[in-house]
Amino acid sequence: MKPDEFRKHAHELVEWMAGYMENVENYPVKSAVHPGDILSKIPDNPPEQSEPFDSLLRDFNEIIMPGITHWQNPNFFAYFPANTSPPSILAEMLVATLGSQCMIWETSPAAAELEEKMMMWLRDLIGLPSGFEGVIQDSASTATLAAILTAREKITDFSINNNGFSTAETLRVYSSGQTHSSVEKAVKISGIGKANLVKIPVREDFAMDVEMLREAILNDRERGFIPCCVVATIGTTGTTAVDPLRAIGEICSENGIWLHVDAAMAGTALILPEFQWMIDGREYIDSFVFNPHKWMFTNFDCTAYFVKDAGLLIKTFELLPEYLKTRTRGKVNDYRDWGVPLGRRFRALKIWSVIRSYGTEGLREKVREHIRIAFLLAEKISMEVDFEILAPVVISVVCFRYKPVGLNEDQINALNEKLNHQLNDSGKLYLSHTVLNGKYTLRMVTAQTNVTIEHVENAWEQIKTTARRLNS
Ligand SMILES: Cc1ncc(COP(=O)(O)O)c(C=O)c1O
Repeated sequence: MKPDEFRKHAHELVEWMAGYMENVENYPVKSAVHPGDILSKIPDNPPEQSEPFDSLLRDFNEIIMPGITHWQNPNFFAYFPANTSPPSILAEMLVATLGSQCMIWETSPAAAELEEKMMMWLRDLIGLPSGFEGVIQDSASTATLAAILTAREKITDFSINNNGFSTAETLRVYSSGQTHSSVEKAVKISGIGKANLVKIPVREDFAMDVEMLREAILNDRERGFIPCCVVATIGTTGTTAVDPLRAIGEICSENGIWLHVDAAMAGTALILPEFQWMIDGREYIDSFVFNPHKWMFTNFDCTAYFVKDAGLLIKTFELLPEYLKTRTRGKVNDYRDWGVPLGRRFRALKIWSVIRSYGTEGLREKVREHIRIAFLLAEKISMEVDFEILAPVVISVVCFRYKPVGLNEDQINALNEKLNHQLNDSGKLYLSHTVLNGKYTLRMVTAQTNVTIEHVENAWEQIKTTARRLNS
């Protein structure tokens, strides 16, 4: 592709992008294609000869777009959001154009130094102690893996890194029963083993029961296990419950256990002074993760991972092959040593663009509004006698179900599952679900970048009407 062809197509694409953003509400939120639909439309073999970009764009519109679920539609209320925003997209365009590979300082000094500064900005914005240092990872799952590996190495004095497993099978990791599955994945990959992940029961509000944690650790010690790491969650995936950090931190501190905090979604709410209570006990934290790619309007992928002692993280991951030796080593941050991958994208530019474009007050305003909308929705739900709220509302997630009279629990579960499918199949909105105390629970997340109270009110009307029609 010649430069003027690129220029022409790039201009067309910018038009397409702006049009998409303006019209995204008119697309069905959830793709309605069936498994294999897209696969069958793509040729089995790549083209031998060059094809014009126009034909790619045509196929993109005809084949790909029907198979897209529109996460940027403000009627997307499922999972946690993967928000984007115009300043983030613009930065991503620059990043793609530069195509820098930011594995070490020398391979793009500006990327390394902007990353260092952006991590300081984010650290201060969310209220982590000033000694913490941060690195951008691709996902919270990767960051949690890094945390568990570092905890493993610290407690074994780096013997597993050096000699392989001899005592690893006796290590224990603790999290609540509501913790995200990425913790279990990390425990499996780290070689500690799924059987050594101790799931601590939760209280009525779905936050970790600290007394049960204390007991589990005591029991494990008596049986010869080595408690290695506790993962506390600020904003669980199911209900956004907040584990009691201070009490957990005290136990970790008394027992020499690594405390990792997963605040993948709710970390963004920490930019609000009124939500700083969630991080009370911060002085006990060893590592902390949150995802600007969820709720901070920075498109996927962009995970902020912070550690109290960067030296331990680096010692866990660093290697020094000849081809990566530089004259600046030791004087700068070579982020390849701060996690699993060697190659790294220039993600800091997105954060810079987003924060400068919104301003910290602008970010606070949006996040605060999302939370306000969630509480308004919860109020509306609790006013209906045939609906019930199933978990305390903490930030921007409301958990509820339809509960008409005269049905048993199994029937209510089946009805809510059917309701969820029918709503999602309508293309007008998209909800996801969880199961709380055996109850099929609808989750409505009011945190999409452009969601307004009107979107939520319309969705709520549709939920009520569909539910009552299903049961009539
Ligand atoms: C609490 C929590 N932790 C971790 C994750 C995993 O995030 P990622 O997709 O960045 O790995 C999620 C995903 O929703 C989550 O809700």
